Amino acid sequence: MPDESTDWVVLKFGGTSVSTRREWDTIVRLAREHLDDGARPFVVCSAVSGVTRTLKRLLEAALQDEHEPVLDEIRRTHLDLADALDVDGEALLDEYFEELEQLALGASLTKQINSPFRARVLGLGELMSTTLGAAYFEQQGLTADWQDARQILRAEHDPRAPERQRYLAATCHHEPDPALQQNLAGSDADLALTQGFIAGTESGETALLGWGGSDTSAAYFAAKLEAERLEIWTDVPGLFTANPREIPSARLLRQLDYEEAQELATTGAKVLHPRCIDPVQQAGIPLHVRSTQEPDLSGTVVTGGAATAGAQVKGIATRRDLTLVSMDTLGMWQEVGFLADAFAAFKEYDLSVDLVATSETNVTVSLDPATDDRPRPGVVDALVNDLKDFCDARAQAACASISLVGHNIRSVLHELGPALEVFDEQNVYLTTQASNDLNLTFVIDEAQVTRLLRELHAQLFDARGEDTLFGPTWRELHDEAERSPPVGPAWWKNRREDLLDAADESAPAFVYDERTLREAAHSARETLPAVDRMLYALKANAHPDVLRIFEEAGLGFECVSPGEIERVRSVFPDLDPDRILFTPNFAPREEYAFGLENAGVVTLDNMHPLEHWSDLFEDREVFLRLDPGRGRGHHEHVRTAGPEAKFGIAPDELDRCQELLQDAGATVVGLHAHLGSGIKRPRTWTETAVFLAEHAERFPAAHIVNVGGGLGVAERPGGVHLDLDDVNEHLARFRRAHPDLEVWMEPGRFLVASAGVLLARVTQKKRKEAVQYVGVETGMNSLIRPALYGGYHRIVNLSRLDDPPAQLAEVVGPICESGDVLGHSRRLPATEEGDVLLVANAGAYGRVMSSRYNLRDPAGEVMLRAEEEAESSGGCDRRLTDR
Ligand code: LLP
Repeated sequence: MPDESTDWVVLKFGGTSVSTRREWDTIVRLAREHLDDGARPFVVCSAVSGVTRTLKRLLEAALQDEHEPVLDEIRRTHLDLADALDVDGEALLDEYFEELEQLALGASLTKQINSPFRARVLGLGELMSTTLGAAYFEQQGLTADWQDARQILRAEHDPRAPERQRYLAATCHHEPDPALQQNLAGSDADLALTQGFIAGTESGETALLGWGGSDTSAAYFAAKLEAERLEIWTDVPGLFTANPREIPSARLLRQLDYEEAQELATTGAKVLHPRCIDPVQQAGIPLHVRSTQEPDLSGTVVTGGAATAGAQVKGIATRRDLTLVSMDTLGMWQEVGFLADAFAAFKEYDLSVDLVATSETNVTVSLDPATDDRPRPGVVDALVNDLKDFCDARAQAACASISLVGHNIRSVLHELGPALEVFDEQNVYLTTQASNDLNLTFVIDEAQVTRLLRELHAQLFDARGEDTLFGPTWRELHDEAERSPPVGPAWWKNRREDLLDAADESAPAFVYDERTLREAAHSARETLPAVDRMLYALKANAHPDVLRIFEEAGLGFECVSPGEIERVRSVFPDLDPDRILFTPNFAPREEYAFGLENAGVVTLDNMHPLEHWSDLFEDREVFLRLDPGRGRGHHEHVRTAGPEAKFGIAPDELDRCQELLQDAGATVVGLHAHLGSGIKRPRTWTETAVFLAEHAERFPAAHIVNVGGGLGVAERPGGVHLDLDDVNEHLARFRRAHPDLEVWMEPGRFLVASAGVLLARVTQKKRKEAVQYVGVETGMNSLIRPALYGGYHRIVNLSRLDDPPAQLAEVVGPICESGDVLGHSRRLPATEEGDVLLVANAGAYGRVMSSRYNLRDPAGEVMLRAEEEAESSGGCDRRLTDR
């Protein structure tokens, strides 16, 4: 039995979480886990799913004397659940069924339902669900101290408040309650169990806490008990960057602070009731939002300290069914008391005002969505009529709001620019940004809200990876696709045995598939005939065999350092230097000298070399790298254009640049621009070509535009593929318009990413609270992309490829940094020490970015020969390079 000093954990379960035996089993399991951890559960439950609505229906039916069938329905629902739980429903609930019948009869006789009566009827759902729950706990061997919430939560008594509010939307006192704590601590039971949604009035009647009030009840209980934490268990695994049922790419928010959670809840995210945050915030109690369907997910944690992640948009919330009331006040300019008069009218009609925007001559407000209790149209017409006495008022229904939510949003306004382009050609009726600086809200036509939400979310979040703040997407958590074949050629499925052999011999290892590399080179040449010359950016993967395959396919090489040039020259001593392009950045003088000797073309991306080392460039042909002013790519670190990127010459410097070129005696034969990496927008390279062509006009000898690399590959299941045909079609059009210009392109990732995997053996497993860790022998020292960019790499257990998923795990390496995570929340089968995990899409920017951090050697490299050759040479021929 827990002692008196035991910490309370308040767990709240909503309607869908108390409706089946499976869910009750989860509740019992969670309670046991807390008991094992030395905490004492205080369980708060809603009515069984749909019952509160049926009780409302019962009241309406009673007025027509048609309540019997509805009563039967309510009995049936509960008796069915009782049967499933194997408890005696009739005996347990008889008293409540009786009471309900009496109440329904009363309403049918008096034909009257006032608020206290309504509260008494609607509160019965929770009393019934918790009565069944307590019996089930006992049956499962845990004693539950069933408490009547009406004895614990006291509704605040405000005689000025309308009766409806006092009985149907009450607020409660929630100061720490030593008497309650003592009383419960003295109980012999394992846990306490009570109802959400209901409280008691001073005179002992039932009061309700309003829609979604169970969350608020739970928060009150947590505050009264000074609980260690509050867990809200619901049917989604936390708060997301947008409503995940509308936006499957919405990401789980792992942590939020109270204000942000409050703002998201208030502006439309329906997971939490807005009123439940204040009580736990005041008491400093952490609030966890988790899913009964996926109890292994750690969900969202709301605390006081999560704002440290810096200013950024954390979520987008929408509210529909808003009505705007616009008041033109020209005659009232500088008149005192206008707002007081206007708002008095809203109060009179019991209409709650939400957003407000004002100018000197207009005040526009939005009204909360209509609810069952408050029909809208007639009331608004009457209000507008009254307002017309002192201003020109009109109402506009069918509006919706979209709110960007996050701390200090004003300080990131400049970053939102491109995202806000979605409002182009859109009527924005109202924009607000409150002084608490937590949201930026736009009111638009309701018909547009779904589209705008989708576009805005894509702009703001699609390129984001997982990190400590942003978790997996809804789709990753739920889609069948996650368990079906991955994107790109899953060559590794067919070569599983060879890969397991390779792992036995040399894990941890990057393994590259020769056939996939050949196919990638071939397909890039075939599908992009509008590109005259393709150069492989070997910064993505400089393995000699990779270079051999691409050389055979006729590609040139784009190098960024003397080391890369030397690598190319050592693999192909006789290669024509014209096939090498050198694109250094902030490199010293001697590197330019080396490049001019050893590469066919050198690209200048700054004027410093011309200003200070002009002698190097006399009679030389060069390329100029220009900055088109805007970068693109999967992460801000890889966007290489725009004022914040260190690359390229801004077009307004070209006059000066031309003078310097002339002084040095150099000739520009080509222009270059590279926007960034991981771009999936087919028009991008043509836009770059057009930009370069415009500037090529001032360089008479310029006949080449090098549109850079950056071609993206799909990384996630369901991720977007770059449509190469589309890329080509745009470029072909450009070629027709500029027949004198050659188009060059320099992809890296696209050619190698899916051809490589990282194999690593499982070292250890551990569970900490709700988080399962699976450790492997190498981590960020081999593959830094997840840590550096939140890059996503699919991870499978190659040793148990066909086993069903059994857990969600953090896949981590052995490096002494918390960021050493290869994948967050990955579905893995039951996994054991020694199993080989495969990290997919690791052919690009893997080994080349690896390090000996912690003095741990990174994974080596293995080339898997194409099968035909392997067969004739009696097995797979692998070559190991230096480690
Ligand atoms: N050309 C230039 C001038 C570049 O700077 C780059 C890449 C490329 C071509 C090839 O880009 P690709 O096609 O591979 O996207 N480490 C990051 C990518 C950095 C790319 C740097 N520059 C990552 O792992 O995502």
